[in-house]
This record gives sequence, C-alpha cells and structure tokens, in this order.
Amino acid sequence: MKKILITGGAGYIGSHTAVELWKAGMEPIILDDLSNSYASVIDRLEEITGKRFAFYQGDCNKKSLLKSIADKHKIEGVIHFAAFKAVGESTAQPLKYYRNNVGSLMVLLQFMQERGIRDLVFSSSCTVYGQPDVLPVTESTPRKEAESPYGNTKKICEDILIDYVKSKPGIRVISLRYFNPIGAHSSAKIGELPIGTPNNLVPFITQVAAGIREKLTVFGDDYDTVDGSCIRDYIHVMDLADAHVKALAFLNGQENNFYDVFNVGTGNGNTVLEVIHAFEKVSGVKLNYVIGPRRAGDVVKTWADTTKINTVLGWHPHYSLEDCMRDSWNWQKSLR
Ligand SMILES: NC(=O)c1ccc[n+]([C@@H]2O[C@H](COP(=O)([O-])OP(=O)(O)OC[C@H]3O[C@@H](n4cnc5c(N)ncnc54)[C@H](O)[C@@H]3O)[C@@H](O)[C@H]2O)c1
Repeated sequence: MKKILITGGAGYIGSHTAVELWKAGMEPIILDDLSNSYASVIDRLEEITGKRFAFYQGDCNKKSLLKSIADKHKIEGVIHFAAFKAVGESTAQPLKYYRNNVGSLMVLLQFMQERGIRDLVFSSSCTVYGQPDVLPVTESTPRKEAESPYGNTKKICEDILIDYVKSKPGIRVISLRYFNPIGAHSSAKIGELPIGTPNNLVPFITQVAAGIREKLTVFGDDYDTVDGSCIRDYIHVMDLADAHVKALAFLNGQENNFYDVFNVGTGNGNTVLEVIHAFEKVSGVKLNYVIGPRRAGDVVKTWADTTKINTVLGWHPHYSLEDCMRDSWNWQKSLR
C-alpha cells in the first residue's frame, strides 16, 4: 500500500483527506504538532476506518523528524496541509506565519529531494485571487496583492513551487486552491474544531445554534448581490478530500517535472444569508442573527470556475449546500 505523508493530518481538511486516502487504497502517515488540533482525532480516524494510522506529533519544520519518519516508512508522496491559517493573527504576527507556512515548505522540499520523494500536493487558497475583477475565477485569473500575511504565504509558496519544479528533474507538484471548505464527515466523528472564536461562517452558525455564542452578525446586506450579503463558493470537506486523491493519482501519471494549479470549489456561489437559511432548513433551528455594518477588507463575491479540475483531474463535487449544513450540524451536536 502506497504511504502518503500528511503534514497537518490531524487538522480539519487533513483528517478528512486521511479517510479518503485510505478508502482509495493508500496509507496515510500523519505528522502534526497539534498546534491547532487534538490527538483524539487519530482515535476518531480509527473508529471511521478500522485502521490505526501511524501518527507523529511534532513540527514539520524539523528535517530530522521528517527523516526519522521516512526511515520507518517508505513515503511515496506528501500532502502539505500544515500551516497557520488565522488571517487576523497573521497581520499581528507576520513572522510567525512566514516562518511556519513558508519555512516548512522549504524544509519539506529539501527533505523530499534528499529522499527521492517526487510527489507533492500543496494546500493553497482562493485568497490568492483577492476580489477578482471577473467571475467566476479561473486558474489564469491574475492573482492580486495579498490582503494579509497569511494570503501572502500562499502566494509565496506557489512561487517557490514553480521555481523549484523547474530546477529539479522528476518533481511533480499540484497546488490546490481551495475555496471555502465546510461540512464534516457523515459519521460526525471528525469535523472542524476551531480553537477559540471561529473565524469562519459555518462553525460560527453552528455554535450560535448550539447556544455557545449569543448571535451571528452578518457583515453588510447592501452589497451588489442577490440579497446584499457576501458570496463565497462553499465546498464540502469530503469533496475537497477527494480532490487530493485525484491529484495524487494524476501526479503519478506524469513522466517529467510537473507543476499545475487547480481551483477546488463547486462552481456556485452562495450568499451568507442563503447559507443561514439552508442551515435553518436542515436543522429546524431558527438562528439568532443580526445585520451589521460592512467589514473592512471583505471580498464581496468570489466563486470558482471548476472546468479545469473537472476535465483534467476528473473531479466533481457530490455534496449540496444542504448536505454541508446537515453534516456540520451533526458534528456540532456530537460535541455537546
Ligand atoms: N479551512 C480553510 O478555510 C482553508 C482554505 C484555504 C486553504 N486552507 C489551507 O489548508 C490547510 C489545512 O487547513 P485546515 O483548515 O485543515 O487547518 P487546521 O488548522 O485544521 O489544520 C492544520 C494542521 O496543521 C497543524 N500544524 C500547523 N503547523 C504545523 C507544523 N509546523 N508542524 C506540524 N503540524 C502543524 C495544526 O496543528 C493543524 O492540525 C492549511 O494550509 C490552510 O492554510 C484552508
């Protein structure tokens, strides 16, 4: 069975991807320092898959640790999720973000080169597009100046990967630009577990519905959209996980150096108010929300053109917005 190293594999997207890799006949080897996740995720993964995945707690910036893992396991590919992702914190502590997000990629590439590991899937983000001038966003839509140090780390990492792949024979890399991952595994055993106040809409919604937070503020209802609230492309985390499986399979079929980038979204945008109403419909809970003023720096609308990933990787999303809301709500209820 092909062993795939997953940095950040105890985190939200990494843990769901571990399930999909296993289903596809690959064995995840998880490395996570648990700076934004819990060791219990590994138990939950065992409950879902029936398999105890190898887990190493530590920092992927440490090459000696990566090497010791590769001494024990024949690693044939890497998915690099490990990063810090809080946009606000990145503005207050930029060096923390550059060191972890950019530094870890460089250490990982050196390690892969030394060990002859060819394949890497990198977690990028639609944040690299900022507020696009034309919608939907294709992969050739120009990247905008980053709105935050976090966003800039993704742009810099993409640029490093382009240069690196050009320089090394046989290296094969895909950057996946995620739109807005939401939802949870249908078992409700794993899901998004933000530490502190959630930065993202859906965990905030489910925490308000669960009585953990008093109310949700919708930042603006006077934008140029169907109901005035901002639009995002929400993608179920299991669909996103599947995109990593497809990306690895595709890399495996490339003979030479390879680098490419793919959007991962549904191709549809939903407003904040549509998300709230979908949640109310599937949960039967009336959400306590208020309309507040616009929030500085918010992208008003963005959604993906997914033609490239549909045609080249043969990947298609299967979950609807209501599926996402149902799974997120079941996950939230399981936390009580
Ligand atoms: N969730 C989103 O909305 C979103 C959108 C676009 C891109 N991304 C990117 O996807 C990736 C995964 O995001 P997520 O939502 O699963 O985040 P997450 O915080 O749930 O997962 C990241 C994991 O990496 C671990 N980690 C961080 N630094 C580490 C280090 N140096 N060594 C080892 N482990 C480390 C954390 O403990 C955490 O478990 C990140 O690179 C993120 O920037 C996320």
